[in-house]
Amino acid sequence: MLLIHFLTITQGGCMFSSNHWGEWNDSQLQPTIQKLMKGYNRYLRPNFNEGPVEIGMSLDIASIDAISEINMDYTATIFLRQRWRDSRLVFPGNESVSVDGRLVSLLWIPDTFIPDSKRSFLHDVTVENRLIRIFSNGTVLYALRITATIACNMDLTKYPMDKQVCTLQLESWGYNIQDVVFYWTRGNDSVKGLDTLRLAQYSVESYYTSVSEAVYETGQYPKLVLHFSLRRNVLFFILETYVPSILLVVLSWISFWISQSSVPARTCIGVTTVLTMTTLMMGARTSLPNANCFIKAIDVYLGICFTFIFGALLEYACAHFYTMQHQTIEDLQRELLREFSESNGNGSIPIVSSTQPKQSAEVDSTADEAAEQSVDSDPKIHAGSKEKVQSQGCGLSSVKKASRRAASVFVVENPHNIDRHARTVFPTAFLFVNILYWLYYLIV
Ligand SMILES: *[C@@H]1O[C@H](CO)[C@@H](O)[C@H](O)[C@H]1NC(C)=O
Ligand SMILES: *[C@@H]1O[C@H](CO)[C@@H](O)[C@H](O)[C@H]1NC(C)=O
Ligand SMILES: *[C@@H]1O[C@H](CO)[C@@H](O)[C@H](O)[C@H]1NC(C)=O
Repeated sequence: MLLIHFLTITQGGCMFSSNHWGEWNDSQLQPTIQKLMKGYNRYLRPNFNEGPVEIGMSLDIASIDAISEINMDYTATIFLRQRWRDSRLVFPGNESVSVDGRLVSLLWIPDTFIPDSKRSFLHDVTVENRLIRIFSNGTVLYALRITATIACNMDLTKYPMDKQVCTLQLESWGYNIQDVVFYWTRGNDSVKGLDTLRLAQYSVESYYTSVSEAVYETGQYPKLVLHFSLRRNVLFFILETYVPSILLVVLSWISFWISQSSVPARTCIGVTTVLTMTTLMMGARTSLPNANCFIKAIDVYLGICFTFIFGALLEYACAHFYTMQHQTIEDLQRELLREFSESNGNGSIPIVSSTQPKQSAEVDSTADEAAEQSVDSDPKIHAGSKEKVQSQGCGLSSVKKASRRAASVFVVENPHNIDRHARTVFPTAFLFVNILYWLYYLIV
């Protein structure tokens, strides 16, 4: 009340010679300003001793740059506009007065701050980028241009098919909800510039505003939140990582069509693709937090590709191993056949197939054994009697036969079939895994 009294006195035309506004005394253009500022106490908020002062906010996002996954933050340049009504600043007429930004220090202004900001500054070229406009009904418009680096917690498990929701929060530093109330001046339309924003790696999918309260130990404070979701443009990653890794997997399949006897060619394809894949995997994680203990979508894909490429290399190892084994078995069979015919020259004809190792297990089944087999149905007794017959025949062949029997468990009938099956199994499995992968990460 004292203030208002003082204000009315000064508005009555009483000037103080010591006042630094004195130089404007003769100004006929803006006689209102110096009258307004007389006796104005900038340390007291409007509506002091009355209800809270309502502060309307609106934003213009000038730019968002440097969205950093490593630091989990983004840097934005914003125009922040705050409006409130200060009844002490009412002046007659219906026009508005734009005041020099430096005179802000003479007015009461809200103590708005950005709670999540890590660094922020007010631009000061060529002067501090502030604007103050006072309307005749006492409404004050206060605009600032701020650049702030604001924290944004990101969930990178779906990287690079991810969507990040970031917020921009505005809170009152010292005035609690009894003193100050925040509101968005035009609801969801209070924020401009997000639609037309061009970001390097993201596009703004949607945004909305909300009003809430921040609760601290010292009380409840007004808070405004702008939520916006950023979707990463996946095209870059498709060209940079996905397509090369798919091509590498396809390249590793070429080996299935190359003859098994050309060891250098097939080994070379296998090892080269494995090494290139390793390089791709290294390159894919340079722009991301190093100490990440979560698995990202891109890691999953590169892991799948690596498994397929490594599988193709292993396929050749297996196929080559069985081919060699197959050849030794064939040699063994020939040797056994020779030994057998030497030991019982008048013996019956052994059932031998040079190409079928399974049948070769029955190399020395003689007619006697066949007869025994028909009498004795128990395979164990049959095996024992067979060995008895063998030991009577020749000792060397029985040892060889036992070792061959053990090996024949792992023998593949025709090792060339491994390649033939791989030609269909690998592409089909890769296609299937791809369908699952893209369904999971794009739709779910
Ligand atoms: C506001 O001022 C303009 C001229 O500056 C005048 O034409 C208009 O009638 C005024 N409006 C009110 C509501 O006084
Ligand atoms: C004060 O005047 C401005 C400009 O004419 C207007 O936008 C605003 O709504 C007015 N405020 C009040 C509280 O009447
Ligand atoms: C703003 O948008 C959000 C989300 O679309 C919606 O829930 C909310 O009701 C909107 N608020 C206003 C004031 O329109």
